Amino acid sequence: GETQALQITLKKGSGDSQFTIESKDQTDGTWRRHAEGKLCPPSRERKTYDLPALLEAFHTHPKITGVETSGGYITTGARWNNIKELRVGEEECLVHVGLSDAYREEAAEYHYHPAMLDNAVNIAIRSIDDQLYLPFYYQEIRVYGRIPADIYSVVRRQDSGQGHQTATFDIDILNPAGEVLAEIEGYTIKQVQAWKSAGMYYAKDWIVQDGTAFPDVDREISRETVAVFTGEGEIADRLLEQIRSQYGQVIEISGGEWHSREDYQPWLERLQAGKVGTVIHLAGLSEREIETKADLDEAGERGFYSLYSLLDGLFVQRSSGDLKLILVCDEANQVTGEEAGLHPHHGCLLGLGKVAREEFPQVHIRLVDVDRLTPPDRIVNEFSLREAPYQVAYRNGQRYVERLKEAPLEPDEGHPGLQEGGVYVITGGTGGLGLEIGKQMSRMSRVKLHLIGRRELPAREHWAEIVAAGAGEQRVRQIAAIQEMERNGAEVQL
Ligand SMILES: NC(=O)c1ccc[n+]([C@@H]2O[C@H](COP(=O)([O-])OP(=O)(O)OC[C@H]3O[C@@H](n4cnc5c(N)ncnc54)[C@H](OP(=O)(O)O)[C@@H]3O)[C@@H](O)[C@H]2O)c1
Repeated sequence: GETQALQITLKKGSGDSQFTIESKDQTDGTWRRHAEGKLCPPSRERKTYDLPALLEAFHTHPKITGVETSGGYITTGARWNNIKELRVGEEECLVHVGLSDAYREEAAEYHYHPAMLDNAVNIAIRSIDDQLYLPFYYQEIRVYGRIPADIYSVVRRQDSGQGHQTATFDIDILNPAGEVLAEIEGYTIKQVQAWKSAGMYYAKDWIVQDGTAFPDVDREISRETVAVFTGEGEIADRLLEQIRSQYGQVIEISGGEWHSREDYQPWLERLQAGKVGTVIHLAGLSEREIETKADLDEAGERGFYSLYSLLDGLFVQRSSGDLKLILVCDEANQVTGEEAGLHPHHGCLLGLGKVAREEFPQVHIRLVDVDRLTPPDRIVNEFSLREAPYQVAYRNGQRYVERLKEAPLEPDEGHPGLQEGGVYVITGGTGGLGLEIGKQMSRMSRVKLHLIGRRELPAREHWAEIVAAGAGEQRVRQIAAIQEMERNGAEVQL
C-alpha cells in the first residue's frame, strides 16, 4: 500500500553512458542509491547454443517445476509462476521460463519482462541452500535482443563459494532457437539474515553441557610448565593444589605482588625463556565479602588491575608466542539461581578478558566461573581444553555454557510503568541514547526529565539562533530532541 518514488538517471558520455537507480527516503527526502552502472556497446561476439543438444545433455529436475520460485522467503504474484522446467547438468542448470497464457501478451510490452528475467537469473538462488539470498552485483550484462514470452537460461556457478556468504554465476539467456539474447557475467548473490517476526528480545541463559566428555583434553599437561597468579581462600587453595598435582611444573606468583607494566617485565621474560604456555589467573579469588568501597577497591586491585597490568606488560612484549590465559572467578554469574552469593564485581575481569581477546590474537583468553561445590579436578581439566567458549561456569559439579534464548517481554500489568508527573533522571541524557530514551518516555507519559551530561548546553534563549545557523550538528540534534520532549508534554531540566 505504500508509494515509493524511484528515479533512474542516465548520463550520456561520448562513448559510454552512466546510469544510477535511486529511491527517495520518505523520512528525510534524500535519494538513496541502489545501483549504478556503465552502458556501452557490446565488445565481443555473442555465443550460440545448440539448444536441442543442451536439453538432451541435462536431466530434468522434478522438484522445482511449477513450485514457488523464491525459496519461500519472498511472496510474488502469479506472473512469477513462470518456471516451466528445470534441467540440471554437471555444473550448470538450464531453466525454461515462459509466461503463462494470461500474461503472454505482456512480453511484447517489455524488452525484458521483470518476472521472467528475475526467475531466469535467480534460479541460481534456489540452487544454493535454504538460506535467503538477494541479488548483490552484476559484473557485466551484454544485451543482444529483447526477450520473447519463452526463454531458456543457462546458469553456471563461477566460484566454489564454500564457506562464503556469496555465490557468483555466469548466465546466458537464449530464445527457443538457441540464439543468445543476453549474457550475464559475474552475477553475485549474497546471503542475508531472514527476517522473522518472532525473537525481538533475547536474554542470557545457561545450559548444562556435558562436563564428563573431554575429548580434546591436552594430555601433555603433565609435562607443561604453568604460571599461576595465586588467590586467597578455600577455592583458590584447592585449585592450586590440584594444579600442582596435574601440571609438570608450577611457577607461583602471589596475586597482589605487582602493580605495573614494569613489575611484569622481568617475569614475562622469564615466562618466555621458560616456555610457559599457560597462565592461570586465580588472583581474583578471595574469601572476603565486599561490604565497603575499600573492599571493592581492593578486589579490583587483585582481579581487574592485576590482569590489566599483565596485559599491559604483554602489549610491549608482542613478540612472545602463543599463550593461554585462564581467568578464574567465583560466582560472577547467576547460573542456577542457587548461588550462595553473587560477586558481580568479577564482571570487570570478565569484560576486560573479552576485549583483550580481540586485542591480543596470540593470547587465548578464557574465563571459568566456579563455585565451591565443584571438585577441583573438574575445573582444572577445563583449563586444558583446546576448543571451548570464552566463558564457562561450574555449579555443583556441572558444566554450564551461555546461550541466548528468546525472551517474551509482555507488558507487566502489575508494574506501574512511568508515573505521570514523576521525576526521572537520565544519566548521559544529553547523549545519543539518552535523548532517544527521553523522547520515548515523553511519548509514554507527562514526565519530568532531568538530563545529565558533562558539558553544559547553551542557554535556551540562544537555541533558535543556533538551530537557524545550523551551528554544530550535535547541538542542533540535542535541541531538536529536547524540544520534541517538551512538545510531548514533558518538563525537561538540564
Ligand atoms: N549508541 C549505541 O548504540 C550504544 C550501544 C551499546 C551501548 N552503548 C553505551 O551506552 C552509553 C551511552 O551511549 P551514547 O551513544 O548515548 O553515548 P554518547 O552519545 O557519547 O553520550 C554519552 C553521554 O554521557 C555523558 N557523559 C559522559 N561522561 C560523563 C561523565 N563523566 N559525567 C557525566 N556525564 C557524562 C555525555 O555528556 P557530554 O556529551 O556532555 O560529554 C553524554 O550525555 C555508553 O556507555 C555506550 O557505550 C551505546
